[in-house]
Amino acid sequence: MNYLPGQINLGLQIVILGIVLTAWGLKKARKLILHGALMSVGVALNWISFIIVMGPSLLSLEIVRTQPLHEYSLIAMVHAATGSIALIMGTVIVALWHLQSSPKGCVRRKMAMCATIILWTIALVLGIWFYTILYGY
Ligand code: HEM
Repeated sequence: MNYLPGQINLGLQIVILGIVLTAWGLKKARKLILHGALMSVGVALNWISFIIVMGPSLLSLEIVRTQPLHEYSLIAMVHAATGSIALIMGTVIVALWHLQSSPKGCVRRKMAMCATIILWTIALVLGIWFYTILYGY
């Protein structure tokens, strides 16, 4: 098994975790434009990781097709489902903000942001678990 794409992807996901935590600190400090800008970078990096590594890897996972109820397939599918929803919601939140070019309208989307970050956290934890399964640590 080629470890490199998985390791690079894991590294990228940890960088995104750092971005999300920093963006959360900026929101606490009421620096909302910087918070939104940093979250936009996080969403863009997640798309890159999905397009280059995770999407193609999911399509090549034979076990998901041959044994869909296997524990590994279930982890992969719940990870992919929560990750996809978080990615789409994050993209919509960032896009709506950019269309309005002011953080004011975003206050209404606080609940959506909380739901997105909860799904993203579940996807991240399952993704790290999945990494230990794929690469045997
Ligand atoms: C919020 C979004 C997401 C987060 C935080 C996330 C996080 C992670 C992490 C930390 C890993 C382990 C590193 C690795 O093995 O490459 C991983 C792997 C993986 N993820 Fe995600 N992920 C997300 C979205 C998705 C989506 C949308 C899909 C597919 C629809 C997906 C499918 C996969 C697959 C198949 C792997 C194994 C890649 C490999 O072969 O190494 N992920 N993810």
